[in-house]
Amino acid sequence: MKILITGSNGQLGTELQRLGSAHELFVLDHDELDICDATAVSQAIADFFPDAVVNAAAYTAVDRAESDCIAAFAVNRDGPTNLAKACELNGIPLIHVSTDYVFDGSGQGAYVESDPVAPLGVYGESKLAGELAVQQHCSRYIILRTSWVFSAHANNFVKTMLRLGIERETLGVVADQHGCPTSAAELARGIYAVLESDLNDSIWGVYHLCQPEPTTWFGFAEASFDEARKQDMNMKVSTLNAIATADYPTPAKRPTSSLMNCSKFSQTFDFTIKPWSASLQEVIKELKHAKL
Ligand SMILES: NC(=O)c1ccc[n+]([C@@H]2O[C@H](COP(=O)([O-])OP(=O)(O)OC[C@H]3O[C@@H](n4cnc5c(N)ncnc54)[C@H](OP(=O)(O)O)[C@@H]3O)[C@@H](O)[C@H]2O)c1
Repeated sequence: MKILITGSNGQLGTELQRLGSAHELFVLDHDELDICDATAVSQAIADFFPDAVVNAAAYTAVDRAESDCIAAFAVNRDGPTNLAKACELNGIPLIHVSTDYVFDGSGQGAYVESDPVAPLGVYGESKLAGELAVQQHCSRYIILRTSWVFSAHANNFVKTMLRLGIERETLGVVADQHGCPTSAAELARGIYAVLESDLNDSIWGVYHLCQPEPTTWFGFAEASFDEARKQDMNMKVSTLNAIATADYPTPAKRPTSSLMNCSKFSQTFDFTIKPWSASLQEVIKELKHAKL
């Protein structure tokens, strides 16, 4: 299958390249294709004429988005709009990735795809606008909402924690926000499960895909340090304090609980996702020899 991947240098883009050897991949990083440029997007899709497009490009700086609204909407709404229109024109399916931050966290239990959305910040609003644009402009689309993405590449929570854990003895981490960490590798594996399905007309729509075992940022940090020590990384941190969101003010408000029910995805694509603890082991193994 010929697959065009945008934003190929990010966490997801990198893992899509690693896992995509069974396919012919056209990988385009930000410098090679700016998804905000409608003409360049139409040209690339017409030139490569892939069997599917995966949009791994996004503006993901949640706090920065609060003061950089125009850029966040350009990448997260206008970019997917351009891709959706070009895909529709050429009859190509579009796999687009979205976020748990479209929810406000006030729901009981895990969110299902049809639950009402109500983003709390600019990042979530811009991603929601991207979802709506994809739905409006493309008939053969999959929107995958995921959460708390981590990997050995680009910027993410695990890398930040390990870097701080090497430098500092005491750290405070927020313990009252609940979510599901998801490795970019498992997300990529899920995307290939979609692409390798028969792509019949019943599958198009919105899905949730994250790894099981909800935790908090505190729990995720603790697990990262435990795993790093198991793998003989030299961690200076000896005191990890659980702190409240109220004691760690950030520009963007985040949902208290953004757990998502992923059974629609696992049933439709017969997909079993690993627990994040297993992925964390693999990521830390890679990070042991990498620059944090
Ligand atoms: N990271 C998370 O915790 C998280 C959580 C939930 C959902 N998601 C979603 O998951 C998807 C993948 O996220 P990720 O963590 O892999 O993101 P990432 O590591 O931040 O990568 C995003 C990539 O998009 C590129 N990009 C930015 N603007 C672009 C543009 N205008 N045109 C083309 N490329 C552009 C970036 O390149 P430059 O760096 O060169 O600009 C970067 O390589 C995104 O849709 C994100 O919203 C992520």
